[in-house]
Amino acid sequence: MSDSDGGGGQEREGFEVVRPVVHLTPPAGWLNDPNGLCRIDGVWHAFYQHNPAADVWGPMHWRHATSADLHTWQDHGIALAPDEHGAIFSGSAVVDTAGSGGFGEGATVAVFTHAGAQGQVQSLASSVDGLRTWTKYDANPVLLPPAGEKDFRDPKVFRWGPPEGGHWVMVLAVGTRVDVYRSDDLRSWERSSSFAPELTESGVWECPDLFEVPVDGSEDTCWFLTASVGGTGPHGHGGTVAIPGRFDGAVFEAHDPGVQPVPVDHGPDFYAAQTFWNAPGGRTTWTAWLSSWHYAMSVPSAGWRGALGIPRDVDAVATRGGFRLRQRPTAELPSLRGRCVVAHDGPLRAPVEIRPSDGIFAYDLTLETGRAAGDPGLVLEVGDETSKAVTLALSPLGLSLERRSPPGRFVADSFEQEYTAPLDPPTGPSAFRIVIDTTSLEVFAGDGTIVLSAAYYWDGVPTLRLAGGPDAGSTTDWRIEIHELRPRPAG
Ligand code: FRU
Repeated sequence: MSDSDGGGGQEREGFEVVRPVVHLTPPAGWLNDPNGLCRIDGVWHAFYQHNPAADVWGPMHWRHATSADLHTWQDHGIALAPDEHGAIFSGSAVVDTAGSGGFGEGATVAVFTHAGAQGQVQSLASSVDGLRTWTKYDANPVLLPPAGEKDFRDPKVFRWGPPEGGHWVMVLAVGTRVDVYRSDDLRSWERSSSFAPELTESGVWECPDLFEVPVDGSEDTCWFLTASVGGTGPHGHGGTVAIPGRFDGAVFEAHDPGVQPVPVDHGPDFYAAQTFWNAPGGRTTWTAWLSSWHYAMSVPSAGWRGALGIPRDVDAVATRGGFRLRQRPTAELPSLRGRCVVAHDGPLRAPVEIRPSDGIFAYDLTLETGRAAGDPGLVLEVGDETSKAVTLALSPLGLSLERRSPPGRFVADSFEQEYTAPLDPPTGPSAFRIVIDTTSLEVFAGDGTIVLSAAYYWDGVPTLRLAGGPDAGSTTDWRIEIHELRPRPAG
């Protein structure tokens, strides 16, 4: 939490917020960070920071949802509720195959922050019935802060080393650093190192993660330490940063300690990112909260507020500036495509306009051009009858997104900004993938090395408009495919 504006503004009468169809949202109340992300027996589980009683941040619970495809979610209600140790802040979940924690072989163990009168401490809960019910450990908490440490939270736990001889690792946000702990039984934790880079923007660190991914086109792998930090996003929003480096089970060392970490998303709305435990086939998949503490409590509400971003598959690419994180929409997303509403190949001489055919405003767009630098690009707008919610200009040289409050419903000055992301001058064709779901837009460019995520709001009937860039009469060829996205029927 930081910089929140305390909002909770009244809705203008008649203002309707429509629920996204391929994003996880709470049935009612408030959502912030993803928690306890894991895949067990072929099912994706997501928990999230949740206040069931109001559409603003409050006494935090974990609420549970499952999915077969990472995009269509089924709600399972509250998993963890506040208790005598305090509210349930962010954390993670692992499967303890060997039963090292004493909760049973194969028990799922949630490791989370209790935030209460005694400050921020780390605690455990276990489930042996496929995550239907949880039992909090009766000797909670298991890890107390060093004296004077007030911000001590968001444990992300994973297994290091071979099945025999390995140990548990926890990364924890502690003030403006990340501490690494180790344990053999999930109950007693010993600090093995601290990582504290010199950041130009040094808000409190939150929600760290540490994971190893393959480097595209090589046998190499790269570790990334990620964390969400106030001020590191565009225009001083909180942002998720990724630091490439090495990890030996105890110490994380950045490849280049002098380099400022690059935000993993150039938009305002991708915070508190977390990877799923146990994604299959060596895959690393993550998601984040699709909002910003700057205005999260002031955006329009329909009795529920907040969504998780679209899950992305993550790996690394080698660039002149070192290893960079690459994020791409999952292989599951196309399985939610419905009708193809635009299939175009050639210069875009007249604008394309799309309105929802059956009340659902969700699209998966692929835009490709063979022309490199000098291409005038395309302009995509989402709006309603009276205003434009977002205008996205894209070309092979970069992206820029302007966002406005919906008509008659001012959100915040920090909401009405322009977000830009340059792209390296292309040597070949350029491709853009854009996922639009009702009230959000997530753009993937530069083969996933440049991502821009933003939520927006509209009133009435939404329209998606795509037109040629400034030089609309040009002869540049674009291959454009737009598919509707449709939720998978339940069952
Ligand atoms: C990040 C955060 C975490 C904390 C949680 C509380 O958005 O502030 O650090 O655990 O939200 O809801």
